[in-house]
Amino acid sequence: MTEDTTPHLFRPFAQRGVTFRNRVCVSPMCQYQAIDGRMTDWHYDHHVRFAMGGAAVGMVEATGVTPEGRITHGCTGLWEDGQIAPMARVAAAYKRYDCVPAIQIGHAGRKASSARPWDGAHPLGPDEEPWQTIAPSAIPTREGWHTPKAMDEGDFARIKNAFRDAAKRALAAGFEVVELHGAHGYLLHSFLSPLSNRRNDAYGGDLEGRMKFPLEVAATVREVWPENLPLWYRVSAQDGVEGGLEIGDTIELVKRLKALGIDLVDCSSGGIAGSPSLATVHPGPGFQVPFADAIRKGADIATMAVGFITEAEQAEAILAEGKADMIAIAREHLADPVWAYRAALKLDAPEAHGLLPHLYHWYLERRSRLKRA
Ligand SMILES: Cc1cc2nc3c(=O)[nH]c(=O)nc-3n(C[C@H](O)[C@H](O)[C@H](O)COP(=O)(O)O)c2cc1C
Repeated sequence: MTEDTTPHLFRPFAQRGVTFRNRVCVSPMCQYQAIDGRMTDWHYDHHVRFAMGGAAVGMVEATGVTPEGRITHGCTGLWEDGQIAPMARVAAAYKRYDCVPAIQIGHAGRKASSARPWDGAHPLGPDEEPWQTIAPSAIPTREGWHTPKAMDEGDFARIKNAFRDAAKRALAAGFEVVELHGAHGYLLHSFLSPLSNRRNDAYGGDLEGRMKFPLEVAATVREVWPENLPLWYRVSAQDGVEGGLEIGDTIELVKRLKALGIDLVDCSSGGIAGSPSLATVHPGPGFQVPFADAIRKGADIATMAVGFITEAEQAEAILAEGKADMIAIAREHLADPVWAYRAALKLDAPEAHGLLPHLYHWYLERRSRLKRA
């Protein structure tokens, strides 16, 4: 048998009925440009930059399953059928360029009803059309934030149904991967963390109780998400705050998610206390890779590494060392939408040919050879 000399970053990866042409994913990035949850032309233009750029997967931002599940007034939603058509346009653009369209669906919980980042990301004031937030317990994210309503039986049923219906709409829009947003202090994460979940019923208490709602949501979505399509889950692997969620807890959760049919875990961290300055972990190159590694080995599941991964060689090493199966890149893609293509040229992957529309490749590849000569 001859050794496979293809760089790991450019080896295809198959899950269920979907084959990703390489290991690069455009990480979800909120744009805050939706109107009543509907994507606008901005979203289309934003995603087309990546669709043409050579990544294997392009993921649409955190999309609210209910209106109160949005982070801001400008966040996308999938709680009504009218939101499907503008999303279908984006999904079709990704498919046109052989990039698998994915979408992250979620509920912002107690971190909802917030201003856009460039307006200060503060909790919306009385004259900014705020709304009632919900959470496992009536504990604000931090001082000065909205006090959420503790969820009751009716809320549990309503939110699970909303996740199920949003997944069905994502399918109708043409997405081939759904990722459940279980990270960054939003609703599902806030059930898991002992800092935000102080319930004393079946949905709180020990880890078993705190996992119950996120697992029920995952099971509900898996029931309607087709067997031949992958279902992913983003975790905050640890809170990084004293008394918070730890990596061992997350590994237990992931074992259970795997048994329910989750195919990959996207490994982020933090966000429970609402401010990075309160976290004990500080971002630096590849700072979350150890989480992807620990979860991959501890729960025997495919993982995606994310966070300050900017260089082709860095991404290649993460995969070659068996620490993750996919690499998600957010901010670097904003600066360089053809990041995957450039990485292929850098790593001398013959697959570079075919990652970009033929016309672009024809010119850029020659330019790159001339620069090297
Ligand atoms: C503008 C922007 C919006 C983001 N929106 C989301 C989001 O919708 N969902 C999510 O899970 N993470 C979101 N993130 C986090 C990214 O997906 C990613 O995890 C983080 O930026 C670290 O990766 P990077 O160093 O490659 O940027 C966002 C990040 C940025 C910069």
